[in-house]
Amino acid sequence: MNSRPIGVYDSGVGGLTVVREISSKLPWERVVYFGDTARVPYGEKTAQELLGFSREIIEFLIDQGSKYIIAACNTTSSQVLEDVKKEFDVPVIGVLRPGAYAASRATRTGRIGVMATAGTIRSGAYEKAIKEYVPDGQVFSAACPQLVPLIEKGDINSEETIRALHNYIAPLLAEDIDVLVLGCTHYPYLIEHIRRIAGPRVEIVDPASETVTVTAAALQELGLQSQEKTGWHEFAVSGDPVRFAAVGRKLLGDDLTEARRVDLSGKGAGTSC
Ligand code: DGL
Repeated sequence: MNSRPIGVYDSGVGGLTVVREISSKLPWERVVYFGDTARVPYGEKTAQELLGFSREIIEFLIDQGSKYIIAACNTTSSQVLEDVKKEFDVPVIGVLRPGAYAASRATRTGRIGVMATAGTIRSGAYEKAIKEYVPDGQVFSAACPQLVPLIEKGDINSEETIRALHNYIAPLLAEDIDVLVLGCTHYPYLIEHIRRIAGPRVEIVDPASETVTVTAAALQELGLQSQEKTGWHEFAVSGDPVRFAAVGRKLLGDDLTEARRVDLSGKGAGTSC
């Protein structure tokens, strides 16, 4: 029994798709969230940069009392998770391996599509992880650099977003995939459009679900689960808290009442909304 929060972080609003899953599957758990909106998108950052960002954010989340950390960002999970894990006493998990496992359970034909940021695709991490579970599987990848900036703007239903989705998904459909992994935590904001474009024969995998299943098992094993609700989720960002909250509420509704700006270099709190 442990009422300390779960720390969750991402470059922006994407990791809220994991928070939503925590609220639904682990309602007694409290989250402290950090969105690095001053430095979004992470998709084009180097591994060295991502490592530095993760270190700063995890230190902040541990200062806030986190008992367990979820790097709710595939780009980070694909490139620096193993290094980061070794540096902290608090357990840190990513979203990529749970996503690969979920895809391996969902596929019937072994033909799996992955949409992700350029950095995640370039790392080859999804392909490697999926092939550990489905050795003779085939992975078809699409780097989708336009999507994160559009989602951060709250541009969920615009023509530009839908056109970009068609362009990214069409080559994957041409490979006759039966599973499509949303390999960036931002993409579930677009799931209705993605479902429509991919059609009924393609199963969409959102790694958030399996990530929270793994988290639940780990908390239990470590004796870290909370037994009662002791407060609300808290949200911090490095950029504009008003914009973050406006977009985040589209997903979390009243679970996201306010966000505050935090300067990680000084670790001081600033404005809130
Ligand atoms: N949402 C993150 C991911 O899962 C980061 C996206 C970005 O900032 O480019 O990859």
